[in-house]
Amino acid sequence: MIRWLVQSVVDHPDLAAGRPPAGLLSPAELERYAGYLNPKRRRDWLLGRWTAKRLIQAHYAAAEGFHPALDSFTITQDSDGAPYVVSCNPALSSSALEDDAPARLPLALSISHSHGSAFCAVCCTNAHPINLGADLELVEPRGAGFVHDYFTAEERHALAGAPPGLADLLVTATWSAKESVLKALRLGLRVDTRTVQCMVPPAQPRMWSTFSIDLCGAVQPVHAETTPAEAAYAATAHAEPPYAGMPHGFTGWWRVVDNRLRPGTQFVLTLVAQGCTL
Ligand SMILES: CC(C)(COP(=O)(O)OP(=O)(O)OC[C@H]1O[C@@H](n2cnc3c(N)ncnc32)[C@H](O)[C@@H]1OP(=O)(O)O)[C@@H](O)C(=O)NCCC(=O)NCCS
Repeated sequence: MIRWLVQSVVDHPDLAAGRPPAGLLSPAELERYAGYLNPKRRRDWLLGRWTAKRLIQAHYAAAEGFHPALDSFTITQDSDGAPYVVSCNPALSSSALEDDAPARLPLALSISHSHGSAFCAVCCTNAHPINLGADLELVEPRGAGFVHDYFTAEERHALAGAPPGLADLLVTATWSAKESVLKALRLGLRVDTRTVQCMVPPAQPRMWSTFSIDLCGAVQPVHAETTPAEAAYAATAHAEPPYAGMPHGFTGWWRVVDNRLRPGTQFVLTLVAQGCTL
């Protein structure tokens, strides 16, 4: 089961100021925070940690019946940038007991932040590996060049026929959907965004609603064990439409939420998962 959470800078007075709320960060995270000199990056990173850590705490509360302290676990990143969670807290990880070294927790986590809001998703990976991607995008106009450069012919065709009132929303949703797939694949924007095709139905869903995903034959899901460099090479070296239409097991969901910081504007949330469901 996927759990998710949206937070914004207004959810804690320290977040807007770019200060870590007391008790949020572990010692390793405080060190990382101190290394961010760019104020925007610092604020975004902090908001992402705030949202992800509160979500992980809520996950343990619902799944195991206890609230781990927010600073008792650390969100860190693999060399490809994908986040994962470690802890020395024996209540979270029995293997942490053995040598006092932080142990990787059985969680798939994805983080996104944009325009003062963050969206995170988490899922337990105890039973089997899970690929998870989450993305948040502000709905705003993006030029025709954007669609031309980053979208597949089929995506462009569908968007050209969309109701005019939904055009910005559907372009944003399609972009966000592609980013979520690329996060679930652990590739990010290292690869051509046209190696992933997402068809988002013309709607404005307030509840989770599905969209379809096709991967170019050469882009395959990888798990943490495969090195990111190998995965990126495999994707870029052979990535070419047309789409194989082969089963890949990814499901995509999307919905629209109001932007609490700028009333009248909206965000699109997209979620992509392989191996688990909402
Ligand atoms: C993943 C990516 C597409 C997200 O970009 P974005 O839309 O601007 O930003 P979002 O806020 O939606 O997502 C950012 C989060 O994605 C996550 N992320 C980064 N790389 C990722 C990857 N390869 N796979 C999955 N998630 C990734 C991180 O948690 C990051 O937030 P954080 O750095 O605060 O922890 C982009 O960062 C990317 O292409 N990264 C790979 C290339 C790169 O330069 N990596 C840096 C190596 S450390």
